[in-house]
Amino acid sequence: MMIDADTRLYGLFGNPVGHSLSPAMHNAAFKEKEINAAYLAFGLEDAQAALAAMRTLNMGGASVTIPHKTDVMAHLDEVDEMAARIGAVNTIVNRRGRLVGFNTDVTGAMRALNACGGVKGKRVLVIGAGGAARAIAFGISEVGGELVIANRTEKRAESLAHELFATFQPLKGVSLKGVDVLINTTSVGMTPHIDEAPVALSELSSETLVMDIVYNPLETALLSGARAVGCETIDGVAMFVGQAVAQFELWTGLEAPGALMQSVVMRSLKRNR
Ligand code: ATR
Repeated sequence: MMIDADTRLYGLFGNPVGHSLSPAMHNAAFKEKEINAAYLAFGLEDAQAALAAMRTLNMGGASVTIPHKTDVMAHLDEVDEMAARIGAVNTIVNRRGRLVGFNTDVTGAMRALNACGGVKGKRVLVIGAGGAARAIAFGISEVGGELVIANRTEKRAESLAHELFATFQPLKGVSLKGVDVLINTTSVGMTPHIDEAPVALSELSSETLVMDIVYNPLETALLSGARAVGCETIDGVAMFVGQAVAQFELWTGLEAPGALMQSVVMRSLKRNR
């Protein structure tokens, strides 16, 4: 990639960012589409200062990750309606000096689900009630999925369910009966606890579409158990690449090279294993 005086800077704001796959993915996409831009990762504590720097340096856009998805919002010029409802921004676009915030975690999850038949009118069980669950639950509710939220801390499930006119259950003993789509948004099953699954796998029916947002490992205990029963599955890379594809399209107005972005992520995951 040629860096010159016209190169536009994009970046990732978060903490920590050392293991992020976003720089490799976005730089490969810029190169593929011959866009004169570079994407760097910035580990930082002060989101307000990062946005001031973004304006000073006239950066083209940024990805925002933990722990800044909420605290950046107060310093943007505009927040997209869905991101405002979710209460989290993971994407900033510099529109002629105006910094506008979006949530493409929701777009990424919905893209992955739509590729497997979508969730409209389906009974969807979301496991977890944290930030990731929130984005996914809002997306499902918006397209008319019948939403059930189950969480270890029942109170958090109740509060999210209340906002979305959904139902809730404690995670312990959650019923998988009649569930069309099951989505794990918790960190259960992530390295090093790779043998753990958030629900009793013996209860899974082959009719259920099972999605996990954990991508380390790619085949979690939940997904391998689901596959053994004959379920269709969606792995964590699908949502991760989906949110980046949507970011790239917001920044450039061009169709993102999704297959290439996915292969960059898969290669890095294999290398790091
Ligand atoms: P994120 O923004 O990634 O969703 P978060 O807001 O910290 O992260 O939420 C983490 C989610 O994973 C929560 O739903 C959490 O359950 P609690 O609300 O009970 O804390 C869930 N979680 C994390 N570890 C878990 C475990 N060992 N068993 C069950 N749920 C777990």
